[in-house]
Amino acid sequence: MKGGLYGLKGKEIGLISIVLMSATIIIWSWEKTPGLTLFLPSQTRVQQSSDILMRRPVVNLLAPEPHVGEVGSSFSKKEATAQKGSEESSSRRSTGDSNTETTSYKEQILSSAQGDQTSKQKDHKKDLVAPIQTPLTSSSLNGNDNKLRNKDTENKACNYAKGKWVLDDNRPLYSGFGCKQWLSGMWACRLTQRTDFAYEKLRWQPKDCKMDEFEKSKFLQRMQNKTLAFVGDSLGRQQFQSLMCMITGGEETPDVEDVGKEFGLILVEGAARPSGWAYRFPSTNTTILYYWSSILCDVEPIDANNRDTDYAMHLDRPPAFLREFIHKFDVLVLNTGHHWNRGKIKANRWVMHVGGVPLTDRKLAVIWAAKNLTINSVVSWVNSQLPKYPGLKAFFRSISPRHFMGGEWNTGGSCNNTTPMSVGKEILDDESADPVVGNAVKGTGVKLLDITGLSQLRDEGHMSRFSITAKPGVQDCLHWCLPGIPDTWNEVLFAQI
Ligand SMILES: *[C@@H]1O[C@H](CO)[C@@H](O)[C@H](O)[C@H]1NC(C)=O
Ligand SMILES: *[C@@H]1O[C@H](CO)[C@@H](O)[C@H](O)[C@H]1NC(C)=O
Ligand SMILES: *[C@@H]1O[C@H](CO)[C@@H](O)[C@H](O)[C@H]1NC(C)=O
Ligand SMILES: *[C@@H]1O[C@H](CO)[C@@H](O)[C@H](O)[C@H]1NC(C)=O
Repeated sequence: MKGGLYGLKGKEIGLISIVLMSATIIIWSWEKTPGLTLFLPSQTRVQQSSDILMRRPVVNLLAPEPHVGEVGSSFSKKEATAQKGSEESSSRRSTGDSNTETTSYKEQILSSAQGDQTSKQKDHKKDLVAPIQTPLTSSSLNGNDNKLRNKDTENKACNYAKGKWVLDDNRPLYSGFGCKQWLSGMWACRLTQRTDFAYEKLRWQPKDCKMDEFEKSKFLQRMQNKTLAFVGDSLGRQQFQSLMCMITGGEETPDVEDVGKEFGLILVEGAARPSGWAYRFPSTNTTILYYWSSILCDVEPIDANNRDTDYAMHLDRPPAFLREFIHKFDVLVLNTGHHWNRGKIKANRWVMHVGGVPLTDRKLAVIWAAKNLTINSVVSWVNSQLPKYPGLKAFFRSISPRHFMGGEWNTGGSCNNTTPMSVGKEILDDESADPVVGNAVKGTGVKLLDITGLSQLRDEGHMSRFSITAKPGVQDCLHWCLPGIPDTWNEVLFAQI
């Protein structure tokens, strides 16, 4: 949307003024909303972070999204130019542009190599004696009354993140040759040169609890007169496409209505595609939508009249789309992660803002700290809205792991494995493998859709070298083949709505 705005001609400046005026009103009323918490920087954040990151095995969580994925997720000229920059600045990264990121990244790899076996054994023992309920740590509640008030008292008897992958001949839930209506060709591995499809035949089996089998009719029945919204980056878009395929079984469904207009999701002049999509199943009046917000914070041009303007990236302000439409949502699934790198931020000409002014605190401007602040801010804001919308079930999806081996996405990294469960088949950890999101939702009414651990076991499920758009030698070990792992994310989601 911002990209389209940016491309408008002189005669439409009147329109721009109206948009800006409404935006001001929205922002103004939003600022009036009680319960908005501005998280102040903690002096000890750097140490805390490395402690948390070292605690458990995490594969490739902090590095940038690869170029190949960007081909499919560029939404405007603005974003398209950003891609070029992303390549440049990613190499800049490796020459020391952001020391902190590089350090934590190395630490993660190290801990992943060493800690795996012992942490699993330890957690397994814990499992036998301790209830699954995770105690609220005082640190996660400090300075946040809001979270205390909405303390999650739900019975957490079932942690769907714990479990194992099992072979299941009834998978996949739709054919990768079908679902052309909803599934982007670039993610349909059946349409590429790939010849191994064992990865399609696995099902996630949670430990100690039954997960309802996904059934189209059951899903639609449960979602009658309801709206489910995915808001996030290209991995969120994969989950959206996966769900559309699951609900339709991959069959042509001409009766599904395009209701993008109701959510302002229209193609703006100059943009490659709209900022999202919304579809309604008329039989049950069920709406499924996706909105592109790669960093889950508000982005506005600093000078709307200047073509070369920078953009304010308001770390402590949720995306305008969310503020405008949250009242229409019954289920909300947020995600962010792979766009948090110096290269993308620079290339997009985003300038970090907190409290409406440019961020000068260098500690906070470090990427992982800015990401943490944003995730905590958006969670806190959604949490503050829950009393107003008692029917709303809000989820934050934990980060989707990357599996680049032997290099980064732009330095020959690959994910060639084709054998399912060669990385592992079981997750027994009580805590999420994504501590940033895991800690942010603790003690709030926002639920964790924890898919990090289970997806980490599936290094064979990525696009790998078969991506249609990939240049030779560039592998996509970030996005997933569909049908594939994001289907499981939706099964786990379905079990909780
Ligand atoms: C992330 O932000 C929250 C809220 O401000 C804070 O409590 C937490 O310590 C931060 N996490 C890290 C790793 O610094
Ligand atoms: C569809 O559901 C919405 C609530 O989500 C409701 O306002 C509307 O009246 C419903 N429409 C029909 C035709 O049932
Ligand atoms: C859905 O909305 C329609 C029209 O408003 C209403 O008749 C129907 O009872 C609603 N169904 C559910 C399950 O809420
Ligand atoms: C993965 O396959 C590519 C292309 O066949 C090859 O260049 C690369 O070296 C392989 N990587 C590993 C780790 O074997």
